[in-house]
Parts: sequence; structure tokens; C-alpha cells
Amino acid sequence: MDSFEWGSGEIAGEEAELSFALFGDANVYSILVAAFSAGLSRDTAWNLANVESRFLHSFHLAGKVFKRGVTFVGDIETPIRHKIDAEHSYCVKQVDRLEQCFETVRRDDVVIIDQGVADYWRLQIPGKFLCFKFSEVEKNLLTVRAIVNILRAHQPPRSRVIVVGGGVAGDLVGFAAGILGFRCHYIPTTLLAMIDSSLGGKVGVNFEPWGKNQIGLFRSPVGVSIWTGWLSTLDDVQLRSGLVEALKHALLGGQTQLWHDLMDAAKSTPVNDRLIRSKILDVISIKQAVISRDPFERGERAILNFGHTLGHALETFATKRGHSVTHGECVAIGMIHALRLSAEYCGMTGVEEMISDLRLVCPNSKRLCKMFGTADDLPSVKEEILGLLLADKKASSNLSAATDSGHVKYVLLTAPGSIARSQSGAWTVSHPQATAWLDIVKTWNFLMST
Ligand code: GLY
Repeated sequence: MDSFEWGSGEIAGEEAELSFALFGDANVYSILVAAFSAGLSRDTAWNLANVESRFLHSFHLAGKVFKRGVTFVGDIETPIRHKIDAEHSYCVKQVDRLEQCFETVRRDDVVIIDQGVADYWRLQIPGKFLCFKFSEVEKNLLTVRAIVNILRAHQPPRSRVIVVGGGVAGDLVGFAAGILGFRCHYIPTTLLAMIDSSLGGKVGVNFEPWGKNQIGLFRSPVGVSIWTGWLSTLDDVQLRSGLVEALKHALLGGQTQLWHDLMDAAKSTPVNDRLIRSKILDVISIKQAVISRDPFERGERAILNFGHTLGHALETFATKRGHSVTHGECVAIGMIHALRLSAEYCGMTGVEEMISDLRLVCPNSKRLCKMFGTADDLPSVKEEILGLLLADKKASSNLSAATDSGHVKYVLLTAPGSIARSQSGAWTVSHPQATAWLDIVKTWNFLMST
């Protein structure tokens, strides 16, 4: 494993107050900024041999949340099995009625419900709860501080936090609770949250300008209650966004029939949510199987990022400019790109049909490409997109994103259910920046011209 030797000397003291409020230490924020500025990846171990002893604690705290946790040179890994048993097992249960989601809620649990969900379902939700307005643009450390303050005010020790909402709610509250040492029970209300974000234990927030979900923890829920009735209030755009992740799971699991069933749901207008409901547990079980083999993303779990290398970069790019895009739309483009690369570099066949399917699920692919402007405008966004690709949590480069030497890492396939492994056995394939950019331009041209 690569390592990075931190120097001695003062720490900048950026956002000291926020840092102290969240981590009980004024230096963590500055160390995080320094780690991102140095282009460190999650796979780079932190060597603290030269760090002054008065700062060691701050580095340890920062390393725990930088890209959900780095290793330190000299660390002895706790056997993974023990960690899973003690902290990471949880039950995903599908229930038939809304009230059943709340059956396990105890008097001293804190129940936090997304404001939009509460507005619609208030009368049916039993017991006391707090409402919070969650949004992707405010998925940051400031909002985590607000939630930490709420939990500190309401949380008697040893009780749980119940989160009712979509992926942003789960990520934010899960992270805030994790910082305080609590685990959450999720009651996901969007398709995306049911089949993806409520599972797997990754929680965290965006850290600009370095992109999505860059600061966080692995903190498994205590349980997940799936009631598909929530889906009845979702519009087509949200259902399609979730469907993209569901299709990704079907593809990674090599389950072509499941892919076709999900496509049948996508092809009807409005989207056939009844059909989706009947497939939810199948989709969930694919992700759960991967996570159970590699809970802390030391290897195989990276495959769940299929389509997310470019997808996350697009989402960050669009959100920064105030474009309204869904996670699924961006991942659909990322998947189209990854399928094209899988065909070109890994000999995958039959990608054309899958690409047409993804375009059908995400009819906005052309509009998204237009964010970059015309072909003549592409060079002006090149540095920014490459910077985002290299800052993505899978990119591994010890060099600044601004240099030419970084590599972009993709999850690619040789066939449905079969991941292309690199020569070293890694689950991702590295492409030099220059090649990566040419490939993106090709996909852009393809999407604009067809
Ligand atoms: N919470 C999302 C994941 O762990 O993949």
C-alpha cells in the first residue's frame, strides 16, 4: 500500500469552530483540506512519524472520516470477521403496512423524518417525531452540525435514531449519529434509498470542491424497514432515478431476467411501480451479497461504483451550476460510458441494447450533455471534469488532480456479472488522464449525435 508522510509544523486552523463542534478538535477540518489538496486517495496510508505529538490526535480523527477512513502506517488491522459480527450486521425487513415500519421504535428513540415525507404522511405516522428539510445542495458538514446539535439535545445515551426519508436524509443523519457513536434504523421512502443508499453502511457528506460523499464513515444501520407503499407518492423522475441503480445491480449480479423485468417497469408510462415493488428484494439481495463479502470496500465492493466515476463527476458539475439533475440520470450516463469502455477495452458484447435501455430510462441524456455546451466548449470544462474524476473516491493518485499524471479508475465488465480485473487483481481498471478525456469526448459525441 502507498503511504504519505505528513510533515511537522503548524496546522492552518481553517473552520476551527465547525471542526471543534463536530469532532471535538479544532484541527480536523484543516487536515482534511490538506489531505484533499495533496490528492490523497483512500488507499494511501497516513505516515504520522514526523507529526508533532500534540497534533497526532487531530490526524487520527481526520483519518477516520477522510474518504470514510484511511489506514495509518503501523496500524494493525482488526480481523474483519470480528468487526462485522460486532458492529455491522443488520436485518432488512420488508413490511406490508406503514405502521409496521415503526413497530420497533422505542420511547427514547429519536425519529427524524424528511419534511416532505412528513407533510404527506403525517396522519399515518405513529408517535412523536422531528422534521428536517434535507437537500443534496446542503449535504455538507454545516448540516451535519445542525443534526448533531439536534441529536445532542434529544438523545439520551444508548438510544437509537430512526431516519425516515431518502438517501440524503440517511447519509446526513447516519453520519451525524455515527460521529456521536449511534447507529440508525432506516425507513427509506424513495426507491433509490430502498435498494441502495440505506444498505451498506456508508454515510457521509459532500466536501466541496472535492465532490460527493468525500467525508464520512462506515456505520451500518441497526435495521432497515422496507415498505414499498411510500413509492406511491414518487413521481416518474424519482422512480427512474432509482431504477438506474436497480439496473446497475441487476447487471453486476449477471441477472439478465431481472434487468428485463425492471425495463418492463420503465417502459410503461407512468413507470409501473407495482412491478418494481415485486422486484425490490431481488435487487437488494445483489447489493447485500457484495457488501457481505467486502463490507469496508477493500476490494470487490468497489464494483458497486459501476457508472459512478463519470456519474459523480457529472452530478457535482451540474449541481455546482444550479442544474437540476437526479443521481440516477448522472449514473445512467456514467453506466453508458462504462459499457462503451467495457466493449472497447474488455471485449464485452451486447452493450448496444443495454445502452438503449438506459437512454430509455433516462431520456434526458442529451440535455445533460448540453450542460457542457458545444463541442467547441469541451476544452474549457476538461480540467474541471478531470479534476472531479481524479478526486472521486475510487481514483488513486498521489499527485494533485491538476497534474497530468493521475489515473482515472473505472469499474468495467467483460460480461454481465463478470468484472474486468486489472493485472494486479484489482477490481478497477486505470486509464491515464489523457485517454480518459478522449473516451469521455467520444461518449459525449455519441450521446449528442444519436
Ligand atoms: N449507504 C450506501 C452504501 O453503503 O453503499
